[in-house]
Amino acid sequence: MTTHRFAGLRLLVPPGVYAPRSDTALLAGQMPDVAGAGVLELCSGSGALALTAAARGAARVVAVDRSGRAVAAARVNARLNRLSQVEVRHGDLFAALHPHERFDLIVANPPYLPAEADADGRWDAGADGRRILDRIVAEAPTRLHPGGCLALVQSGFAGVPLTVAALERAGLELAAPVEHRGPLGPIAEARRGHLERRGVLRPGGDEELMAVVVASRPPVAVAA
Ligand SMILES: C[S@@+](CC[C@H](N)C(=O)[O-])C[C@H]1O[C@@H](n2cnc3c(N)ncnc32)[C@H](O)[C@@H]1O
Repeated sequence: MTTHRFAGLRLLVPPGVYAPRSDTALLAGQMPDVAGAGVLELCSGSGALALTAAARGAARVVAVDRSGRAVAAARVNARLNRLSQVEVRHGDLFAALHPHERFDLIVANPPYLPAEADADGRWDAGADGRRILDRIVAEAPTRLHPGGCLALVQSGFAGVPLTVAALERAGLELAAPVEHRGPLGPIAEARRGHLERRGVLRPGGDEELMAVVVASRPPVAVAA
């Protein structure tokens, strides 16, 4: 078990649970105003983003992860930080929601790194890195209140333009993605061969683009 400081919160992270990293911080830095909002965090891990939303004044926060260990950690972390408006659910993305549940904000730092097709890692996102991203992008627009917004972080290795195009097709309004270039993280470095073979990392390349994509569902038009 390790202890982490994140956005003024104290987080306990057991082995096998994702400890908040630079991608988590990049998304937290771009999170829209949540005061009084209903927030959903998908792929919540230790609960870093869900708890951040709660600490910033969200009225209600639902956090979902498919890992039992992550769910247990996020519940402990919510209690530790006295953020009782956070409800942590164990499940597979939107399947953990009630049929008519809608949110003002959905945030996600999902698995997004391309992996060998037969990889069975905890953070596996498929050969192109889009296994979870595509599912989030497909359903999130229907889970937002009018005027609500989706904010997710992903690697450039998984195709930021694909995410943007899919959200535009769903009728959402996109802000220009906020991008950050940095050194390859440890997981990307371990998958260098696969990334190079897919042509998303040049041979010997040592940089990764990270992007926060923010997309809003238009508010309902009021008749004149
Ligand atoms: C990269 S970690 C991010 C954790 C946290 N949001 C953060 O930034 O610190 C991704 C998380 O997604 C979870 N996950 C993967 N597939 C999932 C799915 N189908 N439904 C829910 N959670 C999933 C993993 O268990 C893992 O905790």
